Amino acid sequence: MDMANSTISVIDNRTGKRYELPIEYDAIRATDLAQIKVTPEGPGLVSYDPALLNTAACKSKISFIDGDRGILRYRGYPIEELAEQSTFLETAYLVVKGELPTTSHFRMWQHNIKMHTLVHENLKHFIEGFRYDAHPMGILIGTVGALSTFYPEAKRITDLESRRVQTRRLIGKMPTIAAFAYRHSRGLPYVYPDNDLSYTGNFLSMMFKMTELKYRPDPILERALDVLFILHADHEQNCSTTTMRAIGSAHSDPYACVAGAAAALGGPRHGSANEEVIHMLREIGSVDKIPAVIKEAKSGGARLTGFGHRVYKNYDPRAKIIKKIAYDVFEVTGKNPLIDIALELERIALQDDYFVKRKLYPNVDFYSGIIYEAMGIPIAMFPVLFALARTSGWMAQWAEMVLDEEQKITRPKQIYLGHDERRYVPLDQRRDGGALETEVVGPL
Ligand code: CMC
Repeated sequence: MDMANSTISVIDNRTGKRYELPIEYDAIRATDLAQIKVTPEGPGLVSYDPALLNTAACKSKISFIDGDRGILRYRGYPIEELAEQSTFLETAYLVVKGELPTTSHFRMWQHNIKMHTLVHENLKHFIEGFRYDAHPMGILIGTVGALSTFYPEAKRITDLESRRVQTRRLIGKMPTIAAFAYRHSRGLPYVYPDNDLSYTGNFLSMMFKMTELKYRPDPILERALDVLFILHADHEQNCSTTTMRAIGSAHSDPYACVAGAAAALGGPRHGSANEEVIHMLREIGSVDKIPAVIKEAKSGGARLTGFGHRVYKNYDPRAKIIKKIAYDVFEVTGKNPLIDIALELERIALQDDYFVKRKLYPNVDFYSGIIYEAMGIPIAMFPVLFALARTSGWMAQWAEMVLDEEQKITRPKQIYLGHDERRYVPLDQRRDGGALETEVVGPL
């Protein structure tokens, strides 16, 4: 590698030809490989990267992760400082706008978000259309997608004012839709937003208010939830954010994008791992069963949910913070007995060669569910809470993508391994067991 000129030389051994590929930001452009011809008349060389393990698909200024050192920063601010000193709405402002707000800007931001906490009454009826046992994540995905029919102007994605309004609307309405999804599943009347309360306090009110005239959230639980939301606000190019950007690259409106991103987040490898963790800990049931579970995970059986991360090869900094606030929550709610199983599982796993060698540490989902459960939030709501908090990050990433002149519609290449050209055979000439039998073994 020529460090002085920041290029890398690639020599094609077949032709002896040498190519100089510029290096910028520790990356080469995959499109620069196209000048290396594989056949004289064919297209150039491509990079093959299933699951985009080693491909940067954008330049971003929003979150920074150093997975080896266990560092996460939003817009340069360490997650630990934000969790300690900020609020979720302030962090959302930071993530979306790029800077911490001044007092007057923050007041205006809070006002602007609160102006959008109500949802159209038809949306309430829309939610009522879901079956009584519908998973709240499914309700959230469907309902957020439906929002684009209420706000058709959202398709004006190049209009700054439209982008701003949709961002406020989404951050404002997500708690309402999330809480309505929960109330629907319980057959409880919907609770309308109470804008006298904080963002998180209002969410708790919409979730748990019964017949009292005014819901008063416990300040410790309100703060704990606020910190959990801060920790989930953004996380660079994860699966759901990549989905958000990919759908957005087709210039679909942001509601369609958020619905798609939430659908990705709902997968058990991503944002619903927090749900799976509780199922796993409950199934384990007691600490004496842990060695058998570890053995099973090591032999390629069920993975330890809440362990491992594509980027963190160290303790997930978010998990560290969550582990600490669990005890504040237990002061109010009483201890969730699953914490003992979780702590012991972590202790044994982190001493085990298998986990040490693969650098598998607890991730954000390992302890968050235990706190949510102690707070009385049902398991099925865990990924919904993740999506609620991540909406600010999704919108920031989406807006960054919209304004990035290098971005085009997402359209990766493929390596085609299917049939060569062949001739169509009419249906009546295709015989079972005959030479022309159609191939029926496939993934579907
Ligand atoms: N338990 C046991 N073994 C594991 C685990 C686990 N939780 N995670 C990874 N491994 C092993 C895996 O079998 C593989 O071993 P080998 O090299 O022998 O084949 C090695 O570690 C590398 O795993 P990988 O699947 O190649 O890693 P990945 O980066 O593709 O996957 C992951 C990352 C998060 C999907 C994975 O660690 C996992 O499935 N964890 C459990 C689910 C989970 O907790 N997800 C939440 C992620 S954090 C929240 C979020 O961002 O959504």
